[in-house]
Amino acid sequence: EFNPLVFSGVQPTGNLHLGNYLGAIRKFVALQENNDCIYCVVDLHSITAQLVHEDLPGQIRSIAAAFIASGIDPEKHIVFNQSAVPQHAELAWIFNCVARIGWMNRMTQFKDKAGKDRENASLGLLAYPSLMAADILVYRATHVPVGDDQKQHLELTRDIAQKFNIDFMEQIRRHGYGVDIIVGEEPIHAYFPPVEPLIGGPAPRVMSLRDGTKKMSKSDPSDLSRINLMDDADTISKKIRKAKTDPDALPSEVDGLAGRPEAENLVGIYAALSDTSKEKVLAEFGGQQFSVFKPALADLAVSVLSPITGEMRHLMDDPTHIDTILRKGGERARARAEETMREVREIIGF
Ligand code: ADP
Ligand code: NA
Repeated sequence: EFNPLVFSGVQPTGNLHLGNYLGAIRKFVALQENNDCIYCVVDLHSITAQLVHEDLPGQIRSIAAAFIASGIDPEKHIVFNQSAVPQHAELAWIFNCVARIGWMNRMTQFKDKAGKDRENASLGLLAYPSLMAADILVYRATHVPVGDDQKQHLELTRDIAQKFNIDFMEQIRRHGYGVDIIVGEEPIHAYFPPVEPLIGGPAPRVMSLRDGTKKMSKSDPSDLSRINLMDDADTISKKIRKAKTDPDALPSEVDGLAGRPEAENLVGIYAALSDTSKEKVLAEFGGQQFSVFKPALADLAVSVLSPITGEMRHLMDDPTHIDTILRKGGERARARAEETMREVREIIGF
């Protein structure tokens, strides 16, 4: 059996929003109670879509600050910045040679981000999932908490691990590495584990407040479409008040949310913020108008987010402190990643 290990990452690009918080960071915090966890600011990923960033060091610190302000303990677990551990890029190169171009071409995130002019997208944007696989597998992590938008990339991570395990089966055994596991019904000898995505919860994909069919995203030109982690209480209330909704009252059963994406999104956000289910939220608010539900949601969002915002600001006032946390985390991560890379180089024959 592989030792259970949780890994995830967040890019240092622009403001964090409620989707990042509910889809990822809030889950990171919950998982740290009973697991060994590694949480990474993925700066190498942030240059795939846009090479030059204004104040990249400040953006890196703000993600680390968000992790810590949300409750992640950087002493018990590891918080670090990706480029401090060059083993990620080294394993990504090997995975570029394991993965097939066709696998990458099928990724919906690549198609979305590359847009119409695909020939002019960076090669890094195409190979992004290969680096993501390396981020996870360089620690041989077994569980990855992410938003629903990352599901396809995690399937690709499993495909890369499986192809590596099969292609190098003989070398893995000869060097005495890997473990016997069962995948599905089949016993295999694996060097890299089959990674399990942790995607569930009442809001696995938080949608835009202006359009219930699009995900909440930092690249949406409308700031009203998202709640940023750094928004103040008034801004949060205003954005929820202005959120697009339909004229009907809330249903008392989850089935009644079908075909009402905006209502479903707000109910899911309420459930996630209060650690409950959509059923329970509708048991409380079923039959009520949005004029009642929206102020309750705004109060809840403010009460959850404002302590985090306050702590983030406080942490950002002392950049040296954050840099020290990241440096120490980087040293610990590097030692662990190097254990894997030493074996991988042997397996390949370097
Ligand atoms: P973004 O997707 O905002 O560009 P990242 O790629 O760094 O940012 O994503 C960080 C984490 O936040 C990932 O686990 C991703 O799945 C999650 N995430 C991003 N947007 C959403 C959303 N709208 N709903 C739920 N999770 C999300
Ligand atoms: Na994403």
